[in-house]
Amino acid sequence: MLLPSLFGLDADSLLPANLAIIGTALHEVEDASFRNMVREAITPLAIERRLEPRVVDQFLGRLSYVAVDASDPSTFSRLGQAATPRSGGGIAIFLSTAPSLFETTIQGLDQAGLAGEHTRLALEKPLGQDLASSRKINDAVALLFPEDRTFRIDHYLGKETVQNLLALRFGNLMFEPLWNAQGVDHVQITVAETVGLEGRTSYFDGMGSLRDMVQNHMLQLLALVAMEPPAHFAADAVRDEKVKVLRSLRAIDVVTESVTGQYGAGAIAGTPVTGYSDELGRASEAETFVALKAHVDNWRWQGVPFYLRTGKRLPARLSEIVIQFRTVPHSIFSGRGAELAANRLIISLQPDENIRLAIMTKQPGLDHEGIRLREIELDVRDTNAFADVRRRIAYERLLSDLIAGESTLFVRRDEVEAQWHWIDAIRRGWREHDVSPKLYAAGTWGPTAAIAMTEREGVSWHD
Ligand code: BG6
Repeated sequence: MLLPSLFGLDADSLLPANLAIIGTALHEVEDASFRNMVREAITPLAIERRLEPRVVDQFLGRLSYVAVDASDPSTFSRLGQAATPRSGGGIAIFLSTAPSLFETTIQGLDQAGLAGEHTRLALEKPLGQDLASSRKINDAVALLFPEDRTFRIDHYLGKETVQNLLALRFGNLMFEPLWNAQGVDHVQITVAETVGLEGRTSYFDGMGSLRDMVQNHMLQLLALVAMEPPAHFAADAVRDEKVKVLRSLRAIDVVTESVTGQYGAGAIAGTPVTGYSDELGRASEAETFVALKAHVDNWRWQGVPFYLRTGKRLPARLSEIVIQFRTVPHSIFSGRGAELAANRLIISLQPDENIRLAIMTKQPGLDHEGIRLREIELDVRDTNAFADVRRRIAYERLLSDLIAGESTLFVRRDEVEAQWHWIDAIRRGWREHDVSPKLYAAGTWGPTAAIAMTEREGVSWHD
């Protein structure tokens, strides 16, 4: 995602002309082989018209490679020399590394003179495995990089529809008066994936879906849905409001408000796939599915459940937020054969980006036998309204903001810590109550207990 995104920006002339990009990892690689590797990586993801030789060569010309051993700070000096800013520019460092390497990496950067005031540091998850380890990483980072130069990535914040959620809520009058416990019955957030482990066995098995997806992406979505209107669209104003929501999350009763699952063998789109433990090569307790009933304990959201659900090897790749409004207080149509469905706003992130509003309308006809109403969707489909605007990879937005020093779409330390605080309590509850994942067949919507969890409250998941 990173190099194709930088390439996308470069092809649109959105990178500073003299920006150099230095790749670094453990192994020695010649610049030329690195460029070839990048050429191969960008080709399948780039739009064809961008793959003109001139555009590709210009991008590859920015690239070079320096090996470092991230576990040994003394190996960073070559990187320091290579990354000395030209003509007074700054440096943006993007770390995508195992949590155990953060501390030595930060020391290495410091020793190599790469931690000065003109350096910004972006951190890709996993930033720890729980609150304690995340604090340790954040402390190590904070010694050299103040918060305003630390950019924690949550790539969901780079997705267009996620930002559009703010436009929808705070750029329109009509939703906000209903956006509370009086108007909203419940909220559903689903991030369903069809993929399995994708070769990331040791990483994923050590995390499970709760920490891989809920701790970050899903809680960020929840915070954006639930937050109060910030006074400005500015980094601290937005993040102040998000953190208040994250700190208002009620501790989950894991027995009645959580369900975990692990996929067994099954089929995705008609193709047989193996189960998680077979893919892994051993039995495991990691959850590949989690469903939660969360509550935000504040005035606005009192009594409104936020149902969260994510999983791998589910029937469809589908990420969406559903705001289920309450029913009208009194139906004037009762007795005339018409059922009223409550309004629903569906904010779809993937596979399509669109926003739909389900409303009741009258079906055309003379209706001598009673009025016939039907639910239809007002479709604010971005693909229609903005057909000529290119969709960018989430990382294009985030990398471009990093280079510009704009931190609204990055996660602040207090947010991450509030997220971990809530997640750690769930994991403690699972241990105390011996909750272990229930098997579900790949290609189904997770364990039936996840369906039962909402049906008990008269709520169906929106599939
Ligand atoms: C990553 C998770 O953060 O997000 C992966 O580690 C997951 O397990 C991915 O597959 C999903 O991202 P997207 O953008 O494809 O929804």
